Amino acid sequence: MEQQSTGTPEPAGEQVVPGTGREGRAETFYEAVGGHDTFVRLVAKFYEGVAADPVLRAMYPEEDLGPAEDRLRGFLEQYWGGPGTYSEERGHPRLRMRHAPYVVDTDARDRWLLHMRAAVTDLRLAPMYESVLWDYLERAAWSMVNAPG
Ligand code: HEM
Repeated sequence: MEQQSTGTPEPAGEQVVPGTGREGRAETFYEAVGGHDTFVRLVAKFYEGVAADPVLRAMYPEEDLGPAEDRLRGFLEQYWGGPGTYSEERGHPRLRMRHAPYVVDTDARDRWLLHMRAAVTDLRLAPMYESVLWDYLERAAWSMVNAPG
């Protein structure tokens, strides 16, 4: 999310934590929850829900949801301290701006969150990680709403 990321100039993985004995690097959230494989599973499950949801499915312009899945995964991996591939390929996230062409009303938000909730639950993360991830996703989805109703 733009708002959350602006106050954090460096990715979490670059913070120096003295005495950790791990080359001065703090473990990122990305690493702690299982890295790439975890994010692959998260977005794969989420897009299964999107594919079966008539309202959301109609919002995605491409016939193939694969590229959209890659973009969301890349963004989330980067946000949580993984590789910065998303911004290398897409530039600054500016997510509210990128959603402006789509009608994101409360119905769309709740559907998005329904499928994301199923995907997060499926990961079976430790409760602390699960609540951190879910809290972020819920707030991000609420902040993406750009239409009444
Ligand atoms: C609230 C309900 C939401 C709806 C209905 C929605 C829908 C969409 C649609 C239709 C697209 C365009 C297709 C695509 O390029 O993938 C898109 C793109 C995207 N969305 Fe969402 N979205 C929602 C919330 C979110 C949230 C909360 C996040 C992040 C946590 C997010 C991250 C992204 C990303 C990273 C892209 C690709 C942007 C790009 O690089 O062009 N979306 N979304």
